[in-house]
Amino acid sequence: MKDVSYRYSDAKKDEYVLKNINYGFNLGKLYAIKGKSGSGKTTLLSLISGLEKKYEGTILYNSKNLKKMNLDTYRNTDIGIVFQSYNLLPHLNALENIVLSMDISKVKVKNKKEKAIELMKSVGLSENLAKRRVLKLSGGEQQRVAIARSLSYNPKIILADEPTGNLDKETEDEILDIFARLAHEENKCVIIVTHSANVCNRVDEIYELKKEK
Ligand SMILES: Nc1ncnc2c1ncn2[C@@H]1O[C@H](COP(=O)(O)OP(=O)(O)OP(=O)(O)O)[C@@H](O)[C@H]1O
Ligand SMILES: [Mg+2]
Repeated sequence: MKDVSYRYSDAKKDEYVLKNINYGFNLGKLYAIKGKSGSGKTTLLSLISGLEKKYEGTILYNSKNLKKMNLDTYRNTDIGIVFQSYNLLPHLNALENIVLSMDISKVKVKNKKEKAIELMKSVGLSENLAKRRVLKLSGGEQQRVAIARSLSYNPKIILADEPTGNLDKETEDEILDIFARLAHEENKCVIIVTHSANVCNRVDEIYELKKEK
């Protein structure tokens, strides 16, 4: 991100949420973005994920300007997102949530159900939870399903918005183990928005957003 500034379209002329952001992210590393509520953390993730386009400055991905890329393809292949509220479809079971994400992405997967179960296992979910509707899973289990889903098309970048905000310390540590493995062993770039000192202690690099104004 080079000199990136952003204000929402309904904001006044000088009301920037993000001002002159110069952050770099690499594969193989785990990052934390921290900052007070309202400092623009979620906004920053939406810029990185190509959801907000009217920013000033430049965002490059693999030396390519995001503004010149096909952002639908980028979002469906290169970026995986984990939301704090999980954003799973409640009327579907865990397996169906993951398979649906593969369907949307259009990335070729030979046996989607098999792959989904493999992903569930990789985040510590046993196969017998696959057919359970997500509302009947615990918060920590739902978060794992959300992580498995974000991995369904094997993206390079994982963006997680307060992924452990609702979890106890032990479960937070287990979720962090997964993110650390994805960065350090699977060579992904993992960016976690967090308020947790425990998370910050475990990442490779921390960026702190200051509230504008
Ligand atoms: N769609 C929107 N339109 C206008 N203003 C917005 C919009 N979304 C967020 N904002 C404003 O932008 C600022 C940054 O919001 P953002 O959600 O990025 O903060 P945050 O750091 O993620 O906060 P939190 O820790 O509470 O999640 C806030 O002042 C917010 O009110
Ligand atoms: Mg936020």
